[in-house]
Amino acid sequence: MNERIAKIKQELETLKAETLQQLEEFRVRIIGKKGSLTQLFDEFKTVAPEKKKELGKELNVLKNDVISKITELREHFTSNEITVNDIDLSLPGNQDLIGTRHPISVAKNEILDIFKRLGFTVADGPEIEDDWHVFSALNFPPEHPARDMQDTFFISKNAENEQNNVLLRTHTSSIQVRVMETQKPPIRVVCPGRVFRNEAISARAHCIFHQVEGLYIDENVSFADMKQTLLFFAREMFGEGTQIRLRPSFFPFTEPSAEMDVSCSICGGKGCSICKYTGWLEIMGCGMVDPNVLESCGIDSKKYTGYAFGMGVERMSMLKWQIKDLRLYFENDVRFLRQFNSVI
Ligand code: DAH
Repeated sequence: MNERIAKIKQELETLKAETLQQLEEFRVRIIGKKGSLTQLFDEFKTVAPEKKKELGKELNVLKNDVISKITELREHFTSNEITVNDIDLSLPGNQDLIGTRHPISVAKNEILDIFKRLGFTVADGPEIEDDWHVFSALNFPPEHPARDMQDTFFISKNAENEQNNVLLRTHTSSIQVRVMETQKPPIRVVCPGRVFRNEAISARAHCIFHQVEGLYIDENVSFADMKQTLLFFAREMFGEGTQIRLRPSFFPFTEPSAEMDVSCSICGGKGCSICKYTGWLEIMGCGMVDPNVLESCGIDSKKYTGYAFGMGVERMSMLKWQIKDLRLYFENDVRFLRQFNSVI
């Protein structure tokens, strides 16, 4: 037995484990289930009682030495020191992810750019508005349904004077009122912005969306001027061969009013599911500014005339990129947003 103890001691002293695997082999050979030291512990039961004390001590000391040696060497192998050999220099570096513009912004900027090229400037206005700028100055009669709670989000209501009601603007036409109140003709502005309506959210409607409003006021501005400007816009936005048509409509702030359609850019006017087999897509409302509106804003309606138009940005971008569900714009799913990588 003593011989075998001496052999284990010697093995321990001369141990040269160069890899974790060699160390593990050593561990199994000495203190594994069938290891040489384990066997000595088994045989210890049969040793004469008078020798037990001394031998037991020796075996235990040896076992502790073996364990501490293994632990020490294992730490050495698993330490976090990184050497040049550990680094894979061929791995690609960490990429800096740059965000992309939201499709609403891309479409809005494209719309604004087209009108900027025609000499329009960009005007802004508040999202929290009063009744005057959203309704009254725009010739909405007091009982008009758009003033109803069902359509408008009110912040505060004034029972005595409706015009002092505070609300979230339901359209960007309010900005044209602010521009007319503060600027003298000639006026040429486009007004982008977020608008709010009390609508149930679905694939086709949302309570928050975006519009771009346009306003042109000068002497002798005619319906023909409007038509030609909007034709130019439609061709820049949807392609050279695009046709437009104007259908009679009604808005309180324009007279006459029209709804403008463009020929369907997907089927080229032949009819498809996007244009509901009509060959036409409705894209905006427009018309000649009602003289009542000009007068409300302090502009002489005998001297000046003008046209106005308004379009939904979500609708324009849905048509341009064939997006079928409005809610995608608000979910911020990067897989959707990444598709509109654009510098504008
Ligand atoms: N404000 C209208 C809306 O939200 C859009 C509109 C129609 C604006 C005709 C105009 C216009 O300036 O002339 O539905």
